[in-house]
Amino acid sequence: MPLLVAGAGAENLTAGLAKALSAGTSQVEFKTFPDGEQYVRILAPLKGEDVIVVQTGYPPERMWKLLLLLEAAAENGADRVRCVVPYLPYARQDRRFLDGEPVSARLVARAISQNATECITVEPHKADVAAFFTVPCHLVSAADAFAAEFKTRGVDVVLAPDAGARDRAEAVARRIGAQVDHLEKRRISSEVVEVKPKSLSVGGKTVAILDDIISTGGTMVKATEQLVRHGAKQVICAGIHGLFIGGAVEKLRGAGAHEVLVTDTIDSAWSRVSMASSIAEALGRPRVPAR
Ligand code: R5P
Repeated sequence: MPLLVAGAGAENLTAGLAKALSAGTSQVEFKTFPDGEQYVRILAPLKGEDVIVVQTGYPPERMWKLLLLLEAAAENGADRVRCVVPYLPYARQDRRFLDGEPVSARLVARAISQNATECITVEPHKADVAAFFTVPCHLVSAADAFAAEFKTRGVDVVLAPDAGARDRAEAVARRIGAQVDHLEKRRISSEVVEVKPKSLSVGGKTVAILDDIISTGGTMVKATEQLVRHGAKQVICAGIHGLFIGGAVEKLRGAGAHEVLVTDTIDSAWSRVSMASSIAEALGRPRVPAR
């Protein structure tokens, strides 16, 4: 039976995983030294254990907790150290966009790979980051989990905030027989840019906007305002990972969002979509070796 190590910030998910896997859970002692450095101590004996460290990556300093927990598990004789990092930090800097920049996502992946024997994460910004790991990395899709939630809410249209995010919206829409579209910017004049669904009319419909991350909420606010303007009956702002920086939820409500909905990859009051069964399923699946 595996032993879960309960990191900070995704506690509901860890509890769900413990149930789904019938696994024991070790608590962790966390401390922050006066200079800001982190201290962790896994409180259960680890020798010979099949350890699964669950530590999410937001806020970003939790990356240190994650690396220290993986080091602690390896150092104390765990047989196998699997890493569940539900929200993978730094994943958006997945290439060198400008000279002088690092590929931050690759650095993070390599650091995790040092002590983890495999890594599981939920829908990073781009799937390509899996190739940065030097141990097997499994990307878990949130499509099943969102499909179930959208179905109970009678969602008519799943809308991607841009063309690049359309595949994610399509995967969910297909599962529930909903329509799918993405938002498109059209320049009306040199001063005016209109943002509207590319081909569908949303009048009188329940529309779920689905993005990978809700950070400041800016992307969703713009989309929500347009949908309300075009007569949507209800707008659900859905994100895989909810960071909710700087009053994002209040801004979304102000823009007319009926509901804000994210997964439990990062704990918040809006983390109502559980990824536990999808991650548990991934943990039980045979692995192909990393390249
Ligand atoms: C961008 O590349 C991501 O897919 C999200 O659209 C973005 O991170 C959302 O950020 P914000 O909530 O600040 O608009």
